[in-house]
Formats: sequence, structure tokens, C-alpha cells
Amino acid sequence: MRTLVITGGTDGIGRALALHHLRQGDRVIAIGTSPAKGQSLRAEAARLGAGDRCSFVAADLSSTTGTRALAQQLREQHPVIDVLVLGAFRYQMTRQETGEGIERTFALYVLSRFLLVEGLREALERAPRPVIVNLCGTGGIKAGVLHWDDLQQREGYRAFAATMQGARANDLLGVAFAAEHPDSRIRYVLYNPMFVNTGLADPFRQPLRGVVKVLAKLFGTPVTRAIRPITELIGSPPEAVLSGYRVRRRVDVAGPAFDPTDAHRLVAELRELSKQGTRRE
Ligand SMILES: NC(=O)c1ccc[n+]([C@@H]2O[C@H](COP(=O)([O-])OP(=O)(O)OC[C@H]3O[C@@H](n4cnc5c(N)ncnc54)[C@H](OP(=O)(O)O)[C@@H]3O)[C@@H](O)[C@H]2O)c1
Repeated sequence: MRTLVITGGTDGIGRALALHHLRQGDRVIAIGTSPAKGQSLRAEAARLGAGDRCSFVAADLSSTTGTRALAQQLREQHPVIDVLVLGAFRYQMTRQETGEGIERTFALYVLSRFLLVEGLREALERAPRPVIVNLCGTGGIKAGVLHWDDLQQREGYRAFAATMQGARANDLLGVAFAAEHPDSRIRYVLYNPMFVNTGLADPFRQPLRGVVKVLAKLFGTPVTRAIRPITELIGSPPEAVLSGYRVRRRVDVAGPAFDPTDAHRLVAELRELSKQGTRRE
């Protein structure tokens, strides 16, 4: 029985992955902020006869303290973790800072993913074929640039730019992982599912929310179909420590968006920034 930790496992793509793997006989730990969504997942798991293999942990991953506490809890309860899916995300229409004073998109989409991988790496290394699947925007829109002089967008926050910056930063997290752990048995997969029919547009303002919801219904991939390539990658991980996919198409992880110097620089910034949360504890 494999053990999967799925952040964002209570909704959208993460929930569909959770239910698929529960049907396969795996153990799933789903992470989200809403206990109601967690209960709904557990009720569905019970209907599948998998109630004893499904747990929900409520954690706010936009907090470095919350992320570290979660990693510690998971390490204690699950010394061996086979799969880590990084799927927690929420679109931030306006600039917000977390209680630790960190811009929320950056905190949730970038910093917490970095910290969770650091915190769970040893548990993953103990698994026979460990995989990290980072659900992100790899190989996507070229608008994604790192605002090195203002990573938290204090000046002129734009939701789309913050999201796209996060997507590029996640590419660099993969590069940094492969550079720091070249002999790791963990396979780090950057995976862009493209346009999937989920609740991703819920935080959008009207009328945009309504428009995107209609478009997602018409043109978005249904979650049950969107997860198929992901489950295949989990079942049969790629050869290389780092790989990237846009659905089934390989992304060149040696391309200009995957610069090792930038990756090193980002990780140094994240290590520094994560101290900010610790100082405020
Ligand atoms: N859908 C697409 O078209 C698309 C396209 C490209 C990439 N992706 C990527 O795929 C991933 C999943 O997307 P989705 O559309 O399936 O998302 P979704 O349906 O909106 O679900 C988001 C999940 O993240 C959790 N979450 C949000 N904020 C959190 C926080 N602060 N702490 C912990 N958990 C939190 C939510 O749980 P709570 O509500 O309980 O907090 C929920 O389970 C994301 O990383 C996204 O960037 C999606």
C-alpha cells in the first residue's frame, strides 16, 4: 500500500487524485483549510470502503509555521511517504499578506511548496519509488517572470502576474531540487494540467468568474480525465530526477526558464524569507 500526501486533496484535481488512489488501495492524506471539504472527502472514501485509508489534515499552507508543523506531524505519523502531490493553490485577486507578513500567493504557491519538500524529503527517500508531483504552470504562458527586486509585489500587485511568477518559481524549485540532490531516488515532476474544469475560478470577481466557469465547463478537461496522465506518472515515474510535462507533452527542463543560477538564487531568498515566519512565532 502506497502512502500519498496530497496538498489541495480536498477539491478539484487533488480530490480526484485522492479518490482514484483510494480506489487503488493506497493510503491518502489530504490537506486543505476547509474541514467541510475534508469531511466530504472522508465520507466519499467511506462509501468506497476506504474510510480507514483516508485522512484529512486541516492546515493553512500559506503559513510557514503551519507548513512546518504539518511536515513534522506527517513525518511522525508516516515515516515512509511514497508520493507528495503539491496542489494547494488559491488565486488572490488582491494583494494580501499572511499573519507572518508574506504576500499570500508567494507564500502558498512557492514558499510552502519549497518547505514541504524539504520537510518530507527524508520520508520520501525511504519509499521504493518516491515521486513528487508539483501541479503548476510549467511550459506555459511566457508572462511568468521573477520580479527579483520585488518578489512579493509590494509595488503594483497584479493577480495574474503573481500567479505566473509563482509558476516560473515552481519550475526553479524543481531545478534546485535536482541540483541539490542529484543522486536522490525521488523523481520530481513538474506537471501542468492545462485548463481543467475545477473551482479554480471561484475567487475571481464577477463577471469574470461566471465567464471562466462557463468556459471551464465547455472547454476545460473534466477532473476524472485530467488525472489520468498524473496517475500514470505516479505509477511509472520518469528516469530523470527532474522532468516536466504539459499534460502528456514533455517540457524541456534545460530550457531558459530553468536556469540553475536563478534556481539557486530563489532558494537562497526562500531560506531567508522562511526565517521571517520563525521570528514571528
Ligand atoms: N484547474 C486548472 O485549470 C489548472 C491549470 C494549471 C495548473 N493548475 C494547478 O493545479 C493545482 C490544483 O488546481 P485545482 O484547479 O484542482 O484547484 P482547486 O479546485 O481550486 O482546489 C484547490 C485546493 O487547494 C486547497 N487550498 C487552497 N488554499 C490553501 C491553503 N492556504 N492551505 C492549504 N490548502 C489550501 C483547497 O482546499 P481548501 O479550500 O479547503 O483550502 C483545495 O483543496 C493548483 O496548484 C493549480 O495551480 C490547475
